Amino acid sequence: MQLVFSIVNKMNNLDKKENCLTSASSHPRQNSCYEKDARRSLIWPPPQARQIFNPRLNLGVMASGNGSNFEALVKAIQNSRLDAHISILVVNNPNCEARRRAQRLGVPCVIHNHREFSSREELDKALVKTFSNHAVEGVVMAGWMRIVTPILIAAFPNRLINIHPSLLPSFRGLDAVGQALKARVPISGCSVHLVTPQVDDGPVLAQAAVPVLSSDDHQSLSERIQRMEHQLLPLSVALAGQNWRNEAQN
Ligand code: GRF
Repeated sequence: MQLVFSIVNKMNNLDKKENCLTSASSHPRQNSCYEKDARRSLIWPPPQARQIFNPRLNLGVMASGNGSNFEALVKAIQNSRLDAHISILVVNNPNCEARRRAQRLGVPCVIHNHREFSSREELDKALVKTFSNHAVEGVVMAGWMRIVTPILIAAFPNRLINIHPSLLPSFRGLDAVGQALKARVPISGCSVHLVTPQVDDGPVLAQAAVPVLSSDDHQSLSERIQRMEHQLLPLSVALAGQNWRNEAQN
């Protein structure tokens, strides 16, 4: 397996330090961790030169919990790896860490608490209204732990994207990391895909493969996958953005 990863990383050019996206952290120990992960992992399609969008992409983001993927997007924008702007973060849990991150990072945040809506559809109508008010051209579900309905999907056709901690189509749904460990697969990873009505089922934009080590437990594998998510999501948004702009031209 080591050899396979070494070959694919040569293809991905990840042996080069600058491609390890070490700028995700300024902490030296974390940086070396990122490099180690990058050497062991495969991202496909491989990271490209920075894509310039004129005007820059205008994004909405949805999060339910920790919000580390949301922060990875903000950092990618701040570090000029993603030419975008996040107009609004929507959270459904008032006390979630994602909301605190938004406050710290200066990103406007609105709460749509699902408990206050009579149905999934009503919640999604509120989401559509919020995102339309901010004229976003695409929406990123960065750890949104609610099933979305055709109301939201139809409002953003091919413009609603989700990140999932497995190599889809394997291990859809809840606790994908636990499912991978249970299945004893030697490789897992993360996927970014377009959202369709079936959960975790839409066309895949990009994936990162991550080795499952014999010493892994749920936490260690989750952390390794998340570090790759933080690299995969910004580059997937750039890929999706290219498609959106191409569509707009035709
Ligand atoms: C990520 O693992 C993502 O794949 C899944 O939910 C998790 C969110 O993590 N959909 P965070 O809130 O971004 O830290």
